[in-house]
Amino acid sequence: MAILVLGGAGYIGSHTVYELIDSGADVVIADNLQTGYIQAVHPKARFYKGDIRDKAFLDNLFKQEKFEAVIHFAANSLVGESMVEPLKYYDNNLCGTMVLLKSMVENGIDNIVFSSTAATYGEPESIPILETDKTEPTNTYGETKLSMEKMFKWVSKAHGLRYVSLRYFNACGAHVSGEIGEAHNPESHLIPIILQVPNGQREAVSVFGDDYNTKDGTCVRDYIHVTDLAQAHILAVNYLKKGNESNIFNLGNGVGFTVNEVIETARKVTGHPIPAVIAPRRAGDPAILIASSEKAKKVLGWKPEHDSLEEIIASAWKWHKNHPKGFEK
Ligand code: UFG
Repeated sequence: MAILVLGGAGYIGSHTVYELIDSGADVVIADNLQTGYIQAVHPKARFYKGDIRDKAFLDNLFKQEKFEAVIHFAANSLVGESMVEPLKYYDNNLCGTMVLLKSMVENGIDNIVFSSTAATYGEPESIPILETDKTEPTNTYGETKLSMEKMFKWVSKAHGLRYVSLRYFNACGAHVSGEIGEAHNPESHLIPIILQVPNGQREAVSVFGDDYNTKDGTCVRDYIHVTDLAQAHILAVNYLKKGNESNIFNLGNGVGFTVNEVIETARKVTGHPIPAVIAPRRAGDPAILIASSEKAKKVLGWKPEHDSLEEIIASAWKWHKNHPKGFEK
């Protein structure tokens, strides 16, 4: 039986497929290639181009292949965009998941692991953030992910389907091979933006605010390597296969770095001075987001292995240096 990876041509999805195939799994990918790249599809995975909002596409897929579990990454994930195009997020993330769940229920597929986010918490009430903390998203993206979690809860009660929701903190880094990595167009995330400077694509990096109540005034985030996130998905599938109950886990390193510290580490890794300029705060940025991942460690047996920021940035640099335009030629 195969594992179906929805959104397996995207950043975290493609890295999870690489780890699944290394572990000997039979993998099927479905992706609409809206933000994913065909070049990121592992050559040993069977690929179907299609959209999760297309029920006939999903029904056919579930008839053609036999699945023991689904891993669901197929969503839009940009906080800023979600504030100007909220309905795009409701449509793809929520309506897409509703169609998917209908098809899964009808086709008797009852295990699913899916991407959630630190953005479900909003402004944290305490640090590190626990799964039981209050969830009050401050953006549409986080709201749709929280609504997805709730949809899973009620569908699970009615139809017996079981799920694991993984709330990622700041996903970053690239595959050890340097063959796949992060690629957004235009680039939206801190580490790829910083690396555009030594790559000759940007003069300087803007630091969004230096007057936060943190050690150097810049925002603190919990940066977690994409391969460690990928491993957590494999553990979550195994957890469900053993018959365990539905659950929600944070995934982060439990250590925070300021924007200035990330830039300084990138200078060390690349040997480039990387000029930085202070810019106004970005709307909606919480000052500090750090995960408690004790639950994932205890219950899933998860252990992040690439937890040094230097290693994380070095892996990203290997990818961006050799693929300055991402997957585009
Ligand atoms: N930043 C800059 N300059 C830039 C880009 C980012 O200073 O050019 C800062 C941001 O203000 C933030 C930090 O760098 O303080 C990290 O920003 P990212 O955009 O890389 O990531 P976010 O923390 O905003 O977003 C991440 C995930 C989202 C998730 C969110 C949860 O990428 O999917 O955490 O809050 F929703």
